[in-house]
Parts: sequence; C-alpha cells; structure tokens
Amino acid sequence: MALPAAALADEIGRRRTFAIISHPDAGKTTLTEKLLLYGGAIRSAGSVKSRRSDRHATSDWLEMEQERGISITASVLHFDYQGFRINLLDTPGHQDFSEDTYRALTAADSAIMLLDNRKGVEMQTRKLFSVCRKRRLPIHTFVNKCDRVGEDPLGLLDDVQVELGIDCFVSTWPVRRDGRLIGVYDRERSKVWLYEETGDHGQSRPEAALVDLDSDELEAAIGTDGVERLAEEVELIEIAGAEADFEAVARGEASPVCFGSALTNFGVDVFLERFLSLAPPPTPRESTGGVVAPAEHPFSGFVFKVQANMDPRHRDRVAFVRVCSGEFDEGAEAVVSRTGQKLRLAQPQEFMARERVHADTNAVAGDVVGLLDRGSLRVGDTVAVGGRIEYPGVPRFSPEHFAQVHIEDALRRKHLDRGLSHLAEEGTILLLFAPSITGPIPIVGAVGGLQFDVLLDRLEREYGVSARLERLPFHCARWVTGPDKAIDKVANAYGRRRVEDADGAALILFDNEWTLRRSIEQEDELTFHDVQPRTAVSA
Ligand code: G4P
Repeated sequence: MALPAAALADEIGRRRTFAIISHPDAGKTTLTEKLLLYGGAIRSAGSVKSRRSDRHATSDWLEMEQERGISITASVLHFDYQGFRINLLDTPGHQDFSEDTYRALTAADSAIMLLDNRKGVEMQTRKLFSVCRKRRLPIHTFVNKCDRVGEDPLGLLDDVQVELGIDCFVSTWPVRRDGRLIGVYDRERSKVWLYEETGDHGQSRPEAALVDLDSDELEAAIGTDGVERLAEEVELIEIAGAEADFEAVARGEASPVCFGSALTNFGVDVFLERFLSLAPPPTPRESTGGVVAPAEHPFSGFVFKVQANMDPRHRDRVAFVRVCSGEFDEGAEAVVSRTGQKLRLAQPQEFMARERVHADTNAVAGDVVGLLDRGSLRVGDTVAVGGRIEYPGVPRFSPEHFAQVHIEDALRRKHLDRGLSHLAEEGTILLLFAPSITGPIPIVGAVGGLQFDVLLDRLEREYGVSARLERLPFHCARWVTGPDKAIDKVANAYGRRRVEDADGAALILFDNEWTLRRSIEQEDELTFHDVQPRTAVSA
C-alpha cells in the first residue's frame, strides 16, 4: 500500500543503512551479534564458535544463523532500534579480497571501521577504506578489544590518520583500572560511563552508570591516581587531539573514534548511540536521469548482488536490490535500465533459516529487497518505475587470477556452460572467451583466488559438474577500448592475450603489472579501464 508523502519521508528518514569494514578477526561477527542483542533481535549473545574452516563458502551470517538459529536475510540484517530501522549489510569476511564486499559498500550510506586495538590499520581495512573514501561514505571508527591492553590510544589514532589520510577525533576514550577496561570517557557529555561486569562473558548488556569526572564514584572505581591520569588524558585529547567536526564526518573527511570491547560490551552502547545520531539516512544519488531524491521519486534501486540456488528446492535466483528512492510497490511496472525490459515488481523475498518466505514489510529507500529473478537481472542493473534511469557505481573489477576450465565428462558441457554463466551473472567469476586460441575451453577470471575454490565447489554441488582448473600465467587485466588493430597489436606481444567478456567487451590479460603500466603509458590510441566500461543508457 502506498504511503502518504509525509509518512514515506518519515520512514525513509529513519533508515540507517551501513556496513562494517574490518580485517578478519578484528571482531566484526562479535560486534554484529552485539548489535543484534542491543536491537532486541536476539535475547542473549553466545560466543560465536570458531568459524575459520570453510569460511569463504558462506557468509558469516549464514554460519551465525546456523549456529544460533536466528533468522536473518542473506544479504542484509534489519531490525528496529530506538526509532531507527537499521539495515546492516553483509560484507563477506574472508581474507581473500572479494568483489562482493566492494559491491555491498555501494549499497551502504555509511560504514563502521572496526580495528583491533593491538593491530590498528591492517591490509583488508586499508582496501575497504579506500572504497569508502571514493564514495565519500561517512566512516565511524570503533577500536575493539580494549578489554586487553593494546597500542597507546593516541598512537593508534595517529596510525589511522597517517595510514589512511583521514582526520580522527576522539568520541569515547578507554578508562582502565589496573590495566582492565572498566568504562569509557564520553567526550560529548564530558562524563564517564562505568560498566559492571556481567559475569556471563558478554552475553547480556552490562549495567552502566554515568558519572562526573570529579565524582566519588569515579574515584572509588579508579582511585585518586586514576582520576588524575584520566584528567590529564582528557586535557591531552582537547589540546592535542582534533576537534569534533561533524560536517567533516558527513563529507567522509573525518572519523569519530570510539574505544570499547565487543566481547564484554563495554562502550558498545555509547558507540551505537553516537553512530546512529551521526550516520545519515538515505541521501540523494546521482543517476543518468539527474539527482534522485529518496522521498521524491518513485521506486528505483540497483542490483548489488545476485545469488542463485539459495533454496535448493527452487532453482531460481534472487537479485538483491538496494532501494534508492520511493517505496516498493508490488505489482508496479519497472524498467531494467540495461535492457529496457519491463519488470513487474513481485512480492519481495526474505530468507528465514534458509527458507524462502515473502517479506512482510514495506520496503522504502534505504532498504534492500530480494527479487526473484529468472535471468533478467544482473549485478549493476538499475530497476526503476517511471523512466529509464541508471545509477552508476556497482563496478565490475578487473580480475587478477585466470584459469581455463576443464571437465572430464564432455557430456556435462551444457551443465558447465549453464553453471559458468549463472556464476558470472552473480559476479562470482568473470567469464572470458578467446575462441581462436582456446577453442571451446572457457577461461574464468577472479579478483581473489579463493573465488576459484568457490567456483569449483558450486559447480559440483549445484550443477553436478566435476571440473578442474588450469591456471594461466596472467596476473592483471584491463578492459580496453580503441581501434581493433591497436588492441591486437598490444595483445599479440609476448605474455599477453586478448579475450572478450560475456558482453563482447575486449580485455587484454598481462603477465605482470610492469608490462601493463608500459602499455598504458605508450598506447595513446587505446583507453585502459580497470572496471568494466558500461555502455551508455539510451533514453
Ligand atoms: P571477525 O568476524 O572480524 O573475523 O572476528 P570475530 O568476531 O570472529 O572475532 C575474532 C576473535 O576475536 C574471536 O576469538 C573473538 O572472540 C575475539 N574478539 C572479538 N571481540 C573481542 C573483544 O572485544 N575482546 C577480545 N579480547 N576478543 C574479542 P577466537 O579466539 O577466534 O574465538 P572464540 O573462541 O573467542 O569464539
């Protein structure tokens, strides 16, 4: 049912759609679980068991779902908290950097950067941060594991500023007694939150008391020396630390930093409060049809993830659409930007304990809807009611690992082709062809090598194809546009190969970064693209 304009604007205004970026092991799953606990989605948080094995095959949430029996959607976790509708996007947590994570970030309006207090900025954090930076996403930092003594907090802030080039300012600060975290100083309130141990390993929310810096309670908790030391630290934060600049946060140029422990929950509540008060609701987005304001345009959104075979009993696919404007209106006719095809909006899907069910909520801008799809939608597609527009920004990254796919049983060839094309449409791999050289043997490209393991596993399980990969000696690739002859000239040199993707766009594979750089410098006639060049949308 269509909401009146004011109610729609209110609904959109309470959406907070974000992702957590972190290096594996920083505590993302633990923090996610605590957000669920605080949001009332689960009653008690259990220790999430070791999920290291087979981590890449499923998302952390699916594992969590299995272990804890909670109901979550496969791509976004939503719950209501203090008047907000929280949409926490899943960013797969495996080491190997994957495009899925990039794409989830295109659907987010802000991000939480989670750091381990002993490790500071790590490799994966750096990569994910750079994606957020490009999109100017507001980033809120949570320094985790402060129940253990780690790096000096000011040194850590310095590390973030130097490594990532973003201004940081203290929002909360750890308060310790004998090295143990017992509270956090809340800079905005100029007071201290003192927590009581729950004695249940953080399964429940701890009691917290808000006390003054010169209060008896604080002195009783950390002693006279502790109070003096904290007063010095607070002075240092004010003198040496950056000022709280909330406008710079909104522009993605500064990050408020909170300290705490997802394990004991100390500091999590203040962080969440601060984050939700500063994180933006859905904001206007650029499209080929101009800037689209979330509350003033009919339904529009883009596909940031496609997943096949989520429910083994239904061999269909679900396209996850980030809604950018308006309200999901069942029965309305939308247009798919890439093809111009009409698409009737059908009941959106949710996944409860792996069972597909109809979503019972009205999705509005900021939400994610799962659309059942029989092949008309791809990652990056815009779906819009009332005109053919396109949102840019769900990039297809150039792969860094390449392999030819061989099968033992030639009779399974059709199944292989079907599996490869489905998995390519999902964005798990990039399917490439070089007919003149490889004959009928397909080539696959992936951004991370781990995607190949997923490919083989899924071909076997979902398509009954036992395949083998023969790695090819290329390490980078670029889409290339320009005169055909010039493309061939570059591609025919030693250590290179010309291939085409499923849309017929040309790529050149290179055996190393150096030859790629030289080609880019020397070949004036050609343009090299590190993401797939999208064809312009004709109105
Ligand atoms: P990830 O999703 O980012 O990979 O991290 P995850 O939450 O799985 O946490 C990784 C490890 O760090 C886990 O320990 C977890 O208990 C621990 N951890 C998370 N938050 C905190 C924190 O605030 N303080 C401390 N001290 N540890 C934290 P593990 O040994 O791998 O597993 P487990 O046996 O503890 O479950």
